[in-house]
Amino acid sequence: MENYEIIEREGKLPVIRTERLTLRDIEVQDISDEYIGWLNNSEVNKYLEVRFEEQTKEMVLKYVCNALTNIKDIMHFGIYDNGGTRLIGSVTLRSINRKHLYSDISFVVGHPEAPRGKGYATEAVRAVVNYVFSHMDLQKLWAGYYDGHIASEKVLKNVGFTEEGRQKEHLVDFSGNRVDKAIVGLLANEYLAFMKVIYKITYPNGKIYIGKDLTGSINYFGSASSLLIEKDFTKEQSSDFTIRKEILWESKIASDKEVNIKEVEFIKSFSSNDPDIGYNKWPKFDGSNESV
Ligand SMILES: CC(C)(COP(=O)(O)OP(=O)(O)OC[C@H]1O[C@@H](n2cnc3c(N)ncnc32)[C@H](O)[C@@H]1OP(=O)(O)O)[C@@H](O)C(=O)NCCC(=O)NCCS
Repeated sequence: MENYEIIEREGKLPVIRTERLTLRDIEVQDISDEYIGWLNNSEVNKYLEVRFEEQTKEMVLKYVCNALTNIKDIMHFGIYDNGGTRLIGSVTLRSINRKHLYSDISFVVGHPEAPRGKGYATEAVRAVVNYVFSHMDLQKLWAGYYDGHIASEKVLKNVGFTEEGRQKEHLVDFSGNRVDKAIVGLLANEYLAFMKVIYKITYPNGKIYIGKDLTGSINYFGSASSLLIEKDFTKEQSSDFTIRKEILWESKIASDKEVNIKEVEFIKSFSSNDPDIGYNKWPKFDGSNESV
């Protein structure tokens, strides 16, 4: 199901290529003044610990060199766009615990010209999480974020993290206010079991319903309108009723938006929104689904 290209490298982090991004070690030659500049940019670092100390090239080089030589303890992936050439951010497993098999994870998309709100952070974090649980023996990832940091919360929830608790007024935010620290976690077995699917239900009269399930639960049979279906069956027929569920498409890594787009594609290609064929009421059938 993975559509990532993963190249393992001896003594280094793997190179992971996603649809738009490349993730790999940040090398010494990548530490440009531009990179130091955006690490010190107060808009970029307002939710990051680096904001407490002006970052110099020497400090960053020390951190990067330490990460390069200690990949068992720290995995500091650079996020590169433009065909793997421009460093725009990072995803970091800062303290890998080999005894308890967990790590925290943090991330930043900081380059001033990198697009925001276009799913870059979600794509990068998802790729690293996928690598950790599919290619390493770590069993858990966790992250903490400042309460109210919506973008961070969304990135983590998009990837499947759920809230485990809060530390009350644990942090001082960029305005000097005390705020809660939200803690979220994701277990390997939850992640590996997690699958987003598009399914097709076939009713005894041959009519169909197509839907999505973002949790991939075996026992979910959709939310087609009961009123609509009832009209097609007698009381006797409905007292012994067999329906069939088939998975048409599945993905562990698609975003919810991508799943929504796929769902519409399937509804239109099966014409399950045509009242003669199926029970999907949306998108409304206008006599043809040819715009697909
Ligand atoms: C937080 C950050 C990583 C988000 O990067 P991004 O590439 O814009 O994130 P995505 O595009 O994947 O966005 C994820 C979601 O957050 C939303 N979002 C992004 N920026 C947002 C903002 N400033 N305000 C509100 N929502 C925002 C997106 O619309 C998207 O929503 P969706 O899932 O409903 O579609 C980036 O802004 C950043 O690096 N900030 C500074 C560092 C930081 O705070 N890191 C996190 C520390 S825990």
